[in-house]
Amino acid sequence: MTTDQTRRPLGPAVPPAADFDHHDTTADAARVRARYEEVRDACPVAHVDRHGGFELVSGYPEIREVTAARDAWSSAGDGIFIPPSGLPPVPALEFDGAEHRRWRKVFDGLLSPSAVRAVEPAIVETVDAHLDAVAGRGAVDLVPTFTHPVPGVVIGRLVGLSVEESVRSQELADAFFSSLGTDAFAEHFGAFVEFTLGHLHDRRRHPRGDVLSELAGGRYGGMDIDDEVAVQIFVALLVGGHHSTASGRAGLVHHVLTHDDVRARLPREPDLVARAVDESLRLTTPLQTFARTAVGDTEVGGCPVGAGGRILLNFAAANRDPREFARPGEFDVDRARNRHLAFGHGAHVCVGQHLARLELRVALTRLLVRLPDLALDGEPEFTGLVAGQLMAIRSLPVRFTPTR
Ligand code: HEM
Repeated sequence: MTTDQTRRPLGPAVPPAADFDHHDTTADAARVRARYEEVRDACPVAHVDRHGGFELVSGYPEIREVTAARDAWSSAGDGIFIPPSGLPPVPALEFDGAEHRRWRKVFDGLLSPSAVRAVEPAIVETVDAHLDAVAGRGAVDLVPTFTHPVPGVVIGRLVGLSVEESVRSQELADAFFSSLGTDAFAEHFGAFVEFTLGHLHDRRRHPRGDVLSELAGGRYGGMDIDDEVAVQIFVALLVGGHHSTASGRAGLVHHVLTHDDVRARLPREPDLVARAVDESLRLTTPLQTFARTAVGDTEVGGCPVGAGGRILLNFAAANRDPREFARPGEFDVDRARNRHLAFGHGAHVCVGQHLARLELRVALTRLLVRLPDLALDGEPEFTGLVAGQLMAIRSLPVRFTPTR
């Protein structure tokens, strides 16, 4: 373990502290993952003194224990970030009990398997349009041109925006995400709200039979929808769905381009695409950490946590826990059982997982059809942990024979 072996004043069962900081922006991806492993293998539930103090839960069975015990742990109040974000609670994600179930019904309707199937042609069209734009170039960075921009556009299309409007909504969302915590935030967020409400009000006057028109009608999924609630829904969709899916897409392309055996099998075995998607999500785990607060005195992995005590679930560390996954660091598309936690588990399990999986399958399939001799063209650049939660690829240079 580390030299920082402070102990909580709660008795002998309290685990040693981990010298761990999920907000350390100087650690690169390799260092972050190495620390995850050291901490998890030394102590699947470890105490951390930073950011007000919390228990870091890194073991697979220990995380399943927490996510299965839905009444013992809260996602509301201080929310799912450590330290708390200070922003209004994100719908579904940062609510408990009956309120959570109400929000969940709204998203279940928006993101159900059938709603997602209906948007598949728009996903294929959006993916192809982005590939059209690069196909003649022969060498590009796939992150800014392909893996990053598409998911936000797909979310826009899902609710009924045109391609151009979806691109604009993504630009506005990117601007307010990246200004979080700065003086510029209010202005950028205001522009996003104005844009969203403009379209909502337009649908109120001229309904078009799309999701926006349903929201504009004032009721959706059993919930009254006023302007504020509609904006919250948009924020949740984009907060939950854009950067996570973009990271998942880049991770998938990278894993496939670095595994020639899988690459060679994909055209012959269409079923393999779905398994490659999930195995890549396990290893990438785009959104890595989510917090909870103890509702009463409880314990996790045999370690006591007092009422109000905070824990940080490290889904990424658990996704490489050798107690659950044989050869955990390997990209093995033939795993007999892959119960990964990239989408979480339990009451808050990702409501956008059907959309995310479909987007990833379409992205990989179309990419390999359109650019069949695609190959890496230099080393990809990984981010460290962004905002204590997101792990992504910053740059993914590739080359291919140009086509028109
Ligand atoms: C690869 C892509 C994605 C990943 C890795 C991911 C990951 C996650 C995880 C781990 C959770 C659980 C959080 C917790 O336990 O506190 C979650 C919840 C959620 N995700 Fe996703 N997500 C992805 C895509 C999406 C998409 C495309 C959307 C919507 C457009 C979305 C919307 C949400 C929402 C609204 C929640 C909250 C659910 C609840 O609290 O009941 N996600 N996601």
